[in-house]
Amino acid sequence: MASSSFETRDGFSSKFGVIAAAAGSAVGLGNIWRFPYITGENGGGAFLLMYLFFVLAIGIPVMLSEFVIGRRAQSNALNSFRVLSPGSSWWLIGLMGIIAAFVILSFYSTVAGWTLEYIVQAVKGGFAGKSIEQLNSDFALFSSGSIMPVVWQLVFMLLTAGVVMAGIQKGIEKYTKILMPLLLLLIIVICVRSVSLPGADKGLRFLFVPDFSKITLQSMLMALGQAAFSLSIGMGALITYGSYIRKNTPLLGSSIQIASADTLIAVLSGVMVFPALMAMGENPVGGPGLVFVSLPKIFQAMPGGYVFAIIFFILLSVAALTSTISVLEVVVAYMKDRFKISRIKACILSATAISLLGVFCTLSFGPLKEYTLFGMTMFDLMNYLSANVFLTFGALFIILYTGWKLGKANFLDEIRQGGKVSAPVAAVLIFIIRYIAPVAVGAVAIGAFFIDGLI
Ligand code: PHE
Repeated sequence: MASSSFETRDGFSSKFGVIAAAAGSAVGLGNIWRFPYITGENGGGAFLLMYLFFVLAIGIPVMLSEFVIGRRAQSNALNSFRVLSPGSSWWLIGLMGIIAAFVILSFYSTVAGWTLEYIVQAVKGGFAGKSIEQLNSDFALFSSGSIMPVVWQLVFMLLTAGVVMAGIQKGIEKYTKILMPLLLLLIIVICVRSVSLPGADKGLRFLFVPDFSKITLQSMLMALGQAAFSLSIGMGALITYGSYIRKNTPLLGSSIQIASADTLIAVLSGVMVFPALMAMGENPVGGPGLVFVSLPKIFQAMPGGYVFAIIFFILLSVAALTSTISVLEVVVAYMKDRFKISRIKACILSATAISLLGVFCTLSFGPLKEYTLFGMTMFDLMNYLSANVFLTFGALFIILYTGWKLGKANFLDEIRQGGKVSAPVAAVLIFIIRYIAPVAVGAVAIGAFFIDGLI
């Protein structure tokens, strides 16, 4: 069913389409790979509490703002600001978002490539009977190689580019609708196994009982960055998707649903990993290899674990794919409009450039390990910069834009198209967007960088 307002831009075919695609963008390696290991490194329960606070106070308001900006302007992440506020410099937010897309995809595709290798390993039965130490050294050996990790990364970039080339509707919607609920179901099954292992309660306590002495400016920034990363906010991915949303889709309700689904999957990923890990007497601080070591160990202990492992790593790759396409789409949508080139050309150019940068990230686990900047390898630096600098400051500027530049009337008019928003709810939202969210992001980001002197 084509709506006339979508003759010039791609549109999602149903209300569920956009929720599914944006949820597909949000749910990815950020939830299942990054959340557990960042939580492990930053103190468990106290980190989780801060994370939940940031999802509510900043995540949902910024997500909503991005949808409003994109749908109102009907344009890409950069041009949307030009359409809504001509003659101003706010488009720089969009430019920062496009740079962020490069930074994110460069290291994200490394990890996405690992998931492909782990599908193969699962099929080969490569986890059977191995101890944690063996699984650890298998991971270290594979990730430090200079051929296979790069090959898998490039395969993943090809898949991403292939889907983005096919265009929004046909490309994204179809897969997400069936596969995401399936992933959730599988995660729940794995959680049940993990918490029923003897000694699992220690892991649950680590995740859910906060130790407030673990809260520092640094861990607050990590929680904020993780929330932004996981929700896909702060770089215009959701502005771009917002421009494809129909006018009859309720933006507030959709944002709340997406953020809830995303947060649920992140917390459940913690429940998968920590109880099992601590039941095996391991330390919760595991670094980027955490899920690639702890999950195979749980599969060993599950009836049907061989099959579950295969399905899990396939679904994890798909979850990563529905995220990478949303990142590449930011660049493609911009290039296509700006340089008046075809979607296909824009895809090839941007995916090639990103892959070049990406190879350096992948090799920084092996041959390029010694090359560091601020004490971080290329992979660590891109990982750190993306969440804690680009997305955090991106979220700050987007919320400032919505609260102080877009105008209350415009904002409320847009969220009331397609959904009822009562006066008290609107008042609370405006208050959060104008005061709470910017003060919270600003305080944490500025505090961590300038007082703590993080970098
Ligand atoms: N949210 C995605 C994930 O959790 C990553 C992402 C970040 C996607 C920013 C788009 C924009 O895996």
